[in-house]
Amino acid sequence: MDSRILYWQERGKLVPTRDLIRTKEQIEGIRFAGVLNTAVLDCVQEHIHEGMSTLEIDRLVYDYTVSHGGTPAPLHYEGFPASCCTSIDDVVCHGIPSAEEILEEGDIINVDCTTILNGFYADASRMFVIGKTSPEKQRLVDIAWECLKIGEQICSQPYVFVGDLGNAIANHAHKNGCTVVRDLCGHGVGIHFHEEPDVEHYGRPGTGMLLVPGMTFTIEPMINAGDWRVCGDEEDPTEWVVLTEDGSFSAQWEHTFLMTENGVEILTH
Ligand code: MF3
Ligand code: CO
Ligand code: CO
Repeated sequence: MDSRILYWQERGKLVPTRDLIRTKEQIEGIRFAGVLNTAVLDCVQEHIHEGMSTLEIDRLVYDYTVSHGGTPAPLHYEGFPASCCTSIDDVVCHGIPSAEEILEEGDIINVDCTTILNGFYADASRMFVIGKTSPEKQRLVDIAWECLKIGEQICSQPYVFVGDLGNAIANHAHKNGCTVVRDLCGHGVGIHFHEEPDVEHYGRPGTGMLLVPGMTFTIEPMINAGDWRVCGDEEDPTEWVVLTEDGSFSAQWEHTFLMTENGVEILTH
């Protein structure tokens, strides 16, 4: 085993098991899934507009993915009924596309896509602003983006801990009067949809799993303008939809990363 992993393991730290360190072949597979997933999000970005329904976004995602040889991972995943998640305003994540939900000027919407290609997974999401929005919403979108970038920066070298990036992200959110959702986190991804480690977007430096070369995982901070607490949607029979408890707005950006000897590389851009 890598001596640096052994070193931290002996000091009581959480270290990755062998299967979390990808082979060359696995990395190539995940990389290709990332390329297709990026093309899917580019397709959404090109076509998203005021007046369209979130179900139309879902159709775009399904058609583009399938016609390029991929499979949308969300579809039928643990009962999820659609090919992507569309989360508007106070929806934190896992919003379900619907014919009745029409995009309006000023909406901020997260579209989250995960693509399976040749058995490998890549997962990413972007925020879209419909027309012109309020300065408050725009600021939230920007801060959520900065939080993702700060997570990436902390991972500019290997052998950092998940808690290092979580701590930096939460500091940035709090400094700007925002909060970090605690109930949902980033995750290992690549061979399965959701794997170890949990990538929490808050926490103490030096806690959580050690991130070593060959690991693939997401960073996907969910940033609220108000309180960090979340709740379910009583009107959602699938129990997937997550809302802010206080009705405040929420924003999120996500990438899939590969940790290398020189820090992370984005696989979804
Ligand atoms: N893509 C989400 C994530 O970032 C998970 C969505 S699960 C689904 O982890 F079933 F709602 F699609
Ligand atoms: Co996602
Ligand atoms: Co994810």
